[in-house]
Amino acid sequence: MTRKKFRIVPLEAGLDRSTFFSGSEPLDRYFREQVRQDIRRKVTACFTALSTGGSIAGYYTLASASILLGELPPETIRKLPRYPSVPAVRMGRLAVDREFQGIGLGGALLADALGRVIQSEIAAFAMIVDAKDDKAGAFYRHHGFIETTNEFPTLFLPLAAVNRK
Ligand SMILES: CC(C)(COP(=O)(O)OP(=O)(O)OC[C@H]1O[C@@H](n2cnc3c(N)ncnc32)[C@H](O)[C@@H]1OP(=O)(O)O)[C@@H](O)C(=O)NCCC(=O)NCCS
Repeated sequence: MTRKKFRIVPLEAGLDRSTFFSGSEPLDRYFREQVRQDIRRKVTACFTALSTGGSIAGYYTLASASILLGELPPETIRKLPRYPSVPAVRMGRLAVDREFQGIGLGGALLADALGRVIQSEIAAFAMIVDAKDDKAGAFYRHHGFIETTNEFPTLFLPLAAVNRK
């Protein structure tokens, strides 16, 4: 439902990022000051939700990553080949502007990110996220993410479990 009201597209040059305010200072600062440089350097991709009025309602970033087998729970490792690590995609950042929070846009952005990853011809075993605080961790657990054994609170979602739409 929500997704119909928003266009989720790669970050376009020339959009006004200066007023984006999610309430998370590091996520807002990164989006204002750093993201374009990271895109140019090919260390991240960034996608934005544009409202019907054309303002940026939310964003997320995706980049290639890997997970060490030892960071996964034993029941997951049992189903994997004995490689030192498995391929993954990291959703490094996800934020929704305060004006649009609580209406399903965060969930829609996450679903959009998962859709892009599972449609790719390049294999990834899981999507991984770093939960910067308890609230973010709760959001990801709500959406089925599972804790790794990594000391930093990294969570993963096996992509074989995600339904193709
Ligand atoms: C966390 C954030 C991305 C959630 O986006 P949102 O648009 O407000 O959330 P949604 O309305 O899409 O919620 C989707 C679902 O997640 C649930 N949810 C939202 N926040 C939650 C939380 N902190 N804990 C548990 N569940 C949560 C909602 O109840 C909803 O559940 P439902 O689909 O079963 O009804 C947004 O609040 C935000 O940008 N916060 C500041 C930045 C941040 O903390 N980012 C975290 C990632 S690093």
